[in-house]
Amino acid sequence: MKLMPTLQIKNICKSFGGVRAVNRCSFELVDKKITALIGPNGAGKTTLFNVVNGFIPADEGKIFFREEDVTDFTVWQRSRLGMSRTFQLSRLFKNLTIKENLILALRQDDDLFWRAFLKRGEGSELNKKIVEGMGFVGLKKNPETSVKDLSYGEQKLFDLTRALLNPHSLLLLDEPVSGVNPVLREKLKEIMRHLKEKGETVLLIEHDIDFVRSVADWIVVMDQGRVLKEGLPEKIFKDPEVLEVYLGPTE
Ligand SMILES: Nc1ncnc2c1ncn2[C@@H]1O[C@H](COP(=O)(O)OP(=O)(O)OP(=O)(O)O)[C@@H](O)[C@H]1O
Ligand SMILES: [Mg+2]
Repeated sequence: MKLMPTLQIKNICKSFGGVRAVNRCSFELVDKKITALIGPNGAGKTTLFNVVNGFIPADEGKIFFREEDVTDFTVWQRSRLGMSRTFQLSRLFKNLTIKENLILALRQDDDLFWRAFLKRGEGSELNKKIVEGMGFVGLKKNPETSVKDLSYGEQKLFDLTRALLNPHSLLLLDEPVSGVNPVLREKLKEIMRHLKEKGETVLLIEHDIDFVRSVADWIVVMDQGRVLKEGLPEKIFKDPEVLEVYLGPTE
């Protein structure tokens, strides 16, 4: 029996003025696997993410999520179907606390949201969920802390907590380890392994090759808006074309 792909990206094109950011890009995401989307700066990775989650419309092409055509769906509709994402540059409500931000991250038709709203969340199931989420990523902070008082690395962990708490069947992570120190990078590796054990389906954009090599089951390499290669990590990182795109032409 053929496994149903979680996500199908079909011939997506997206231009900004004269810049073809994504150019007939197609690939599929396998269920319960971590797929890494890699490629040089400006390859179109973030633009593709934005098209996948509905943040910007595609000029051409289709997105299927669990076999449903979601191409014309809004971000909100896709989120309700189970797409959850982090951002390359965190979009957080910096003057709100961790807890307030996490409450906002939960879907507003979620019972927990309304119970928290009516009871102000004290001792509620929502508190439990927030503490569990923060515990899972190892964010050791009081939930009443303002997000603006978190360090850069803590904000990354917080952004991940937010994406995880949003009920989902697909996680889209844009550069979760960029700019973090080696200790936090190791911790994020551990978190990714736990996500894999939990059977999460993840699409991960990441430049850190060591990180990608140790967590990804499948690699898709993007260059100039389209898929250059895809395959198992051990094969991709030996591929001369991929190496050339990353390191420049070799003699
Ligand atoms: N809103 C925009 N307006 C104009 N051009 C844009 C816009 N967003 C992206 N681009 C251009 O589209 C191309 C792809 O950008 P994108 O951010 O998708 O690349 P990326 O692969 O995510 O790069 P990086 O690894 O540096 O994050 C780049 O040339 C970029 O300048
Ligand atoms: Mg990017």
